[in-house]
Amino acid sequence: MRTPARGRAGGKVILLGEHVVVYGRPAIATGLPLGLEAEVSAGDGPALASEHDGDPRGADLVRAACAATGLDPARVVVRVRSELPPGRGLGSSAALAVATLRACAAAAGRTLSTDEELALGRRLEGVFHGTPSGIDPAAAALGRCFGFVRGEPPVVTPLAPPAPLPLVVAFGACPRDTGAAVGGLRARWDAEPATYEALFDAVAAVVARGAEALLRGDLTGLGAAFDENQTLLERLGVSSDEIGTLVATARRLGALGAKLTGGGAGGAIIALATDPETLAARLADATGVQALALRVGRAQEVAA
Ligand code: MEV
Repeated sequence: MRTPARGRAGGKVILLGEHVVVYGRPAIATGLPLGLEAEVSAGDGPALASEHDGDPRGADLVRAACAATGLDPARVVVRVRSELPPGRGLGSSAALAVATLRACAAAAGRTLSTDEELALGRRLEGVFHGTPSGIDPAAAALGRCFGFVRGEPPVVTPLAPPAPLPLVVAFGACPRDTGAAVGGLRARWDAEPATYEALFDAVAAVVARGAEALLRGDLTGLGAAFDENQTLLERLGVSSDEIGTLVATARRLGALGAKLTGGGAGGAIIALATDPETLAARLADATGVQALALRVGRAQEVAA
């Protein structure tokens, strides 16, 4: 085993289509410049030292990454340094899975292909979430903007905006649990499948319009898709009062569109803005939450 060995992966934002992607509808996501680094050293394993400390799933993740890369888990300790706030819908679990996988591969002297990373990242993320669509580990592995349809294997379509997308990401006060939000929607869908299938189809139509706007560099059109998607996410029952207030405030302060991102029920919002630095500062002033201005969507904006 070659140690120390490091692997890095970025977080993600889902631009359009979270939740419906679990039900086979398309979604659009992009990697973030914020991410996390995993470092493998030799020790008494399998062990993972991070914000997941004390969570037995940390050891399960290391065990799974070792199985995928041919390392002996009893000798592997993984330490994690993260720039991603956990539980805010920015893909910290998937970034942890992909960074751990990359670090274990480096320790084993192996280079994984993108297809292997996509498949293994998805399997490893399953340690944290029961039925993930696979979009989060795909974003962690790819680090740029893409369309995604779940499947075996998923269909991943690179989508390059003509210019980086100017985005504000603002965090709600409370971390929340993607697994619980996904499970809650599943219970509602089980009870009223026809109603929810129609809502899923309505989101799919918004995602298609949003993809066209994104490829044209039409920020107004993409912002309108954010707003329409948010209305439908509210009808799916995965938004929250806090998210509703943040979204409304971002729009009042000049956002071209705003919506929750990721699992919802709290977490983070994204807002498209011609001047994201000014919007982030005003939103933070008005609401007291942390808000970041980012330019996302193209490979060179994302640290690998
Ligand atoms: C979580 O980032 C996105 C969800 O659509 C769940 C998933 O796709 O696995 C809510």
